[in-house]
Amino acid sequence: MKKRIVSGFLAFALMLGLLTGCTKGTGTSNPESGSSAVGEASVSTDSSDMSTKKVGICLYEDNDIFMSKYCEELVEYLLANGFTSDNIKISDSYNNRYVQINQVKDYLTQGVDVLIINPVDADAARTITDLASEAQVPLVYVNREPDAVEEIRWEDYDLDVTYVGCDARQSGIYQGELLLDAGLETLDLNGNGSLEYYMIEGDQGNIDARYRTQYSVSVLENAGWSLNCLFDAVGNWNTDNAKQLVARALDEQPGVEVVICNNDAMALGAIDAITEHGLTPGKDVFVIGVDALEEALSKIEDGSMLGTVFNDFIAQSHAAADATMNFIKGVANEHYISCEYVKTTKENAQEILEIIK
Ligand code: GAL
Repeated sequence: MKKRIVSGFLAFALMLGLLTGCTKGTGTSNPESGSSAVGEASVSTDSSDMSTKKVGICLYEDNDIFMSKYCEELVEYLLANGFTSDNIKISDSYNNRYVQINQVKDYLTQGVDVLIINPVDADAARTITDLASEAQVPLVYVNREPDAVEEIRWEDYDLDVTYVGCDARQSGIYQGELLLDAGLETLDLNGNGSLEYYMIEGDQGNIDARYRTQYSVSVLENAGWSLNCLFDAVGNWNTDNAKQLVARALDEQPGVEVVICNNDAMALGAIDAITEHGLTPGKDVFVIGVDALEEALSKIEDGSMLGTVFNDFIAQSHAAADATMNFIKGVANEHYISCEYVKTTKENAQEILEIIK
């Protein structure tokens, strides 16, 4: 757990390099079923004793830098609260809703006390909610918010289902405000009075990607800025994809002043492409992201990245685990447990680094 304890399990896992991808730290992740046997759901007389409680976790995609950090923190916090590593099962859903639904079915057949699901998409969430409520297993969705229709269902039918995460609109608004704070006079490098930009999006249909793309730009439009989008493409949250996209854009659509990325992993790829193109990031082109990955924070400190928005995986994973423990103890949760993003620039990068280190 950040800034508190390093559990024996984590120290051991780190020693073996097991947690480079979160699913490698516990249980199996068979691509088909993705889960391993967890036995029957436990019956414990002491509701605060978590040592026999079983948690089934699905990640939409373990090969996602942010989610992998999130999951490490989640596991560490569960262990610190008395769960055992044998009873924490993690599956990589390989960004495939059918794989994820099968993993959930497996968990339910084998018996888990709570499910923690990072859903592949809204359709997967609908089916997973049905499966979990039929089996009377409480469900905590994390990071990827199911849609409004789904959330109303939890309320209407009083289901033991909650979502823990941030409002993606806020991250988009903060990205826009970071650019506003930097000022058009600084960013408008060619002095034509408008901002030439590239947009590198997460994945299609994802709510974070949609809102970040929409709100980062609308904040600037509402402030009266003139904008010129030279290039807009989907990088699927991934560094290498973003690097290739930006390299292509720099060849085909030169004259960019700002690259707005839906996350830091892609911002780091954009910075690499800019550098390899012979330009200096932070001087010839400005780059912003979301997440506050450690590497992004050091780029902000050395001036090659303009800013980011801290996506607090520590608060979110702890809140998800707390909600899990509430369900186990028979305490109800709100259906929506929110958290706040934090605007991050050179001024507070060190402070954020201290929090996540
Ligand atoms: C976002 C995060 C991205 C990526 C995405 C996956 O919250 O900023 O880096 O992990 O979730 O859905």
